[in-house]
Amino acid sequence: MTSLQTLLRGRTLTFTAEPYSPDDTHAYDYCEDGAILIEDGLIVASGDHATVNAQAKNARVIDHRPHLLMAGFIDTHIHFPQVQVIASWGAQLLDWLNTYTFPAETQFADPDHSANMAGRFYDQITAHGTTTAVAYCSVHKTSTDAFFTEAAQRNMRMIGGKVMMDRNAPDGLRDTPQSSYDDTKALIDAWHGKGRAEYAITPRFAITSTPAQMEMAQVLVQEHPDCYAQTHLSENHDEIAYTTELYPAARDYLDVYQSYGLLGPKMLLGHSIHLKPREIDALVETGAHPVFCPTSNLFLGSGLFDDAGLRARGITNAIATDVGGGTSYSMLQTLNEGYKVLQLQGQSLHPLRAFHWITRGNALALGLEDKIGTLAAGSEADVVVLDAHATEAMALRMDSVMSLAEELFVLMIMGDDRAVDQVYIAGQPSKRG
Ligand code: GUN
Ligand code: ZN
Repeated sequence: MTSLQTLLRGRTLTFTAEPYSPDDTHAYDYCEDGAILIEDGLIVASGDHATVNAQAKNARVIDHRPHLLMAGFIDTHIHFPQVQVIASWGAQLLDWLNTYTFPAETQFADPDHSANMAGRFYDQITAHGTTTAVAYCSVHKTSTDAFFTEAAQRNMRMIGGKVMMDRNAPDGLRDTPQSSYDDTKALIDAWHGKGRAEYAITPRFAITSTPAQMEMAQVLVQEHPDCYAQTHLSENHDEIAYTTELYPAARDYLDVYQSYGLLGPKMLLGHSIHLKPREIDALVETGAHPVFCPTSNLFLGSGLFDDAGLRARGITNAIATDVGGGTSYSMLQTLNEGYKVLQLQGQSLHPLRAFHWITRGNALALGLEDKIGTLAAGSEADVVVLDAHATEAMALRMDSVMSLAEELFVLMIMGDDRAVDQVYIAGQPSKRG
């Protein structure tokens, strides 16, 4: 018996390389009359409708014309226990953590709260077109189990980990070097490589980990080279100064992580704003990935990420929401604010490069470009359906739009969850409500 196929019809856009302008036509495939053929959660074929349709056998057809079909968005840095921290007023990083974030995360010791919030979290990211996220859970094992349990129920490709934090945090939000090792180990055993789940070893940042805990993180990374790792780096000046006090032997902030052997292509470094030349050299040498978090960097007054400067050194930057320091679950709104942050530095983010970044670009940073981030045959069928006429203001602007690049720019500047008409997770329609 052959399994049921689904054929999505619409305008298809997918990337094969990073484009800089519409002239880089070799970098993307765009079909006005396009289709995606899906079977068993995987893409069988995509591109020109007539060609794709010729391969279909009894496929269920879902017609999304005139909307745009793209690979689902990838958010490379988000805090699952901060769904009720987003939009908290008046503080910069360290005060914001102590005043709002740590109290909210304390509640995730409760498995019921964790399970409830996990459902709400996935509803939100899915509604906004995000089909893969790399998440920080709370210090509690319960929150990480809830995060992966709900992802498994929804068959979503998710990466995440329990934060390791053993100091400078309130009661109920600290582990110990040993318990952080034991819990992380148990979570890796339970989840890493199960279905679509992958684990990220997650020392929260230098301020909340003692040297003894950093040693445990080092052992974990050595024992599990196939796991991701993630932490925060050089987000805020007070944070950097305090880190230097806590680790006086380190040459600079990044050297804390480097000296414990945490850097490599699987390491994601949230923020990476105020970097010194030696730190940038170390990023080049190790292949670790800075993560640009524009809405958060603006909201917390943290600073301006130097995308062009890092790229010029051959570094692959990822981009992310960083909810709840970030102010939107939408990768479209993330591009909107990212565009402005780069404008302030004389860097212009072209819309084609922008949409490459939140799909194939982030997949490249994760080493997952063969599984997600494009519509290539063999990829997992995570697809977003975009409507550039979603609001009256967008429709009015679209009346004068003449090209795909202009349409993408309207989507990234004016779009949010309203512009996400449908989302497919492994071939299943998944946007609720
Ligand atoms: N640094 C350490 N923890 C956090 C966090 O939760 N959010 C942000 N933006 N920075 C951090
Ligand atoms: Zn963060």
